[in-house]
Amino acid sequence: MREMSREEIEHILNTAERAEFRGDMLQGRVMCTLFFEPSTRTRLSFEAAMKRLGGEVVGFSKPGAASLSKGENLTDTIRTVSCYSDVIVLRHPREGAARLAAEVSDVPVINAGDGSNQHPTQALTDLYTIRKEHGTLRVRVAMVGDLKYARTVRSLGHGLAKFGARIMLSSPPGLEMSPELMEELEGMGARVEVCSLEEAVERAEVLYVTRIQKERFPDPEEYRKVQGAYRITPELLEGAPQNLVVLHPLPRVDEISPEVDHTPRARYFHQVRNSIPVRMAVLALLLGVV
Ligand code: NCD
Repeated sequence: MREMSREEIEHILNTAERAEFRGDMLQGRVMCTLFFEPSTRTRLSFEAAMKRLGGEVVGFSKPGAASLSKGENLTDTIRTVSCYSDVIVLRHPREGAARLAAEVSDVPVINAGDGSNQHPTQALTDLYTIRKEHGTLRVRVAMVGDLKYARTVRSLGHGLAKFGARIMLSSPPGLEMSPELMEELEGMGARVEVCSLEEAVERAEVLYVTRIQKERFPDPEEYRKVQGAYRITPELLEGAPQNLVVLHPLPRVDEISPEVDHTPRARYFHQVRNSIPVRMAVLALLLGVV
C-alpha cells in the first residue's frame, strides 16, 4: 500500500464499483494460492473471485503437505509455481515474503499478508467499504486494538493517509502503533492522534476494530496481559455519532460483542461481501482484461 498512488487506488476501487465483469473474462487463466498461514476469507474470496471471472484455481493451504516440508526454499517454490500459473496469491509469516516472491516470479504476485507487515487487498476492501459508507475517504477513522502487530492496520493506514484521513489510535498498553509508522502516516498526509476508546467512539466516523494477534507475540505471558482488554458493546456505542460504522477485517475473537451485529452500525459482514468485487478488480486489472 505504501507504493500505490492515490490514482491507482482509486482506479481499483472504481473498477470494483463499476462491476462490469463478465464470467468469462479470465477463462483459461490459472491462479495459484500459496497459503503458509491460516485463512478463511482471504483465500476463499480470492478463489471465488477468480472463479466468478471464469478462471481456474490451484494451490495449497496446508504447507506441511508441500515440498517446503522437504526443505525446499520459498524462491524455488515460487519459480516453480510461476511456470504453472498466471498469477500467484501468497500469504506467508515472514515480512517481505511477497516482495521476495515478486522478484523471482515470472507472473504477478499478490500479497495476501506477510507477517505483521502488510495486507494490501484487505486494505483495498476496507477503503472500498469506507467510501461506500461515507462517500469519501477523507474521514475520521479510529483504529482500535492491536496497532503493533496487525498488518491490516498498517496497510489501511497507508491507504487512508494518501487521502488525507484523520486517524485516531486506541490500543491497550504495549500494543501501540510505533512512532515511526505514526510519523510516516503523517508524512503521507494523515492527521494522527492517540486517544482513549471512549474518545474514539465519541468522535470517529469509522471504528476499525482489530483482533489481538496472539500468534505474533514472542511471549505468551505478554498476550495474557492484554487478552480481553477492550470490547465493543451496544452500550459503548450508545452515545456515538449517528454516522459511526464499525468495521473489522475478521476473524474476531471477543473484541466485538455479538449483540453489535444486529445494530445498523455493524458493517463487518458488508466488508466481507465487498472483498469479492475488490479482488475481482485486482485480478482483472493485473491480468490485463479491464
Ligand atoms: C486478517 C489477517 O490475516 O491479517 N484477516 C483477514 O485477512 N481478513 C486479520 C487477522 O488475522 O486478525
